[in-house]
Amino acid sequence: MTLFELYKKTADELSFGGCGEFEAKVIFEDILNVGTKPYDYATVEAAENQILLMNEIIERRKSNEPLQYIVGRWDFYGFEFKVGEGVLIPRPETENLVEYVLNEIKNIKNPIVFDLCSGSGCIGLTIAKLRPDATVYLFEKEDKAFNYLNKNLGCFSLKNAVPVKCDIFNFDFSDLPEADLIISNPPYIKSDEVPLLQEEVKKEPVSALDGGKDGLDFYRCIASRWIKKAKKDGLIAMECGDGQSDEIISLFKSIVCEKKVIFDFNNIDRIVAFRI
Ligand SMILES: C[S@@+](CC[C@H](N)C(=O)[O-])C[C@H]1O[C@@H](n2cnc3c(N)ncnc32)[C@H](O)[C@@H]1O
Repeated sequence: MTLFELYKKTADELSFGGCGEFEAKVIFEDILNVGTKPYDYATVEAAENQILLMNEIIERRKSNEPLQYIVGRWDFYGFEFKVGEGVLIPRPETENLVEYVLNEIKNIKNPIVFDLCSGSGCIGLTIAKLRPDATVYLFEKEDKAFNYLNKNLGCFSLKNAVPVKCDIFNFDFSDLPEADLIISNPPYIKSDEVPLLQEEVKKEPVSALDGGKDGLDFYRCIASRWIKKAKKDGLIAMECGDGQSDEIISLFKSIVCEKKVIFDFNNIDRIVAFRI
């Protein structure tokens, strides 16, 4: 079998997800470190270990392991993040949240930023990278996710990012400075909807998805506890799930001056932001 035939086979076998060619391309480039154009290797025989490796990967994908876990990395806002079992895969919709806050804080010098429920660190580390004058604290509770956060911090070699391993529901933040920006993409799926998620999404940690009975536990925590650490005029910006923005606004309405909801291309409310 030539490498090109192996590539075609991989693309066919992975077509169940609707993106066989794309997935085969990513796997060939990232794992086999070879290109995917026929003229690159139409006549090159695939090595035995390459065939075995591809068969193993095809089986892992057929058992719904996310492609991102198999390749061990994923891009977010133009940067590469290490991911794997135990950490949420960065999503493109979260890039919109980052883009929004970067614009909102562009005139604040040396901003203090809290990234609550930071997972891989995709939000907080991106802000720290693009705003070297900022100090970004990243709060994460779970061991595996925190390990990925630290790995990613190491790859970024940042001096202005501070990982904090804690439970945001009871962490004593009295020693921290007040924040110009509190940002979060918290777990927000209703507990009884978690078992109904796509099999592939269910390979991601439940702790990254389950937002409690009504999906709003983390917004309640931010509205009752963390808001006290925001500066006057500070910004709180959070990702949310489809249709949650009204309830989130009612949680914050007695404490904030301004509110904003940003909808995505599918007209789903994706970002809720408040000014104190
Ligand atoms: C939806 S994921 C978001 C991860 C990352 N910010 C992103 O956008 O990809 C939520 C994260 O919150 C973490 N988490 C869950 N409960 C927590 C808690 N009580 N305190 C701190 N982090 C928590 C999970 O481990 C998970 O990494």
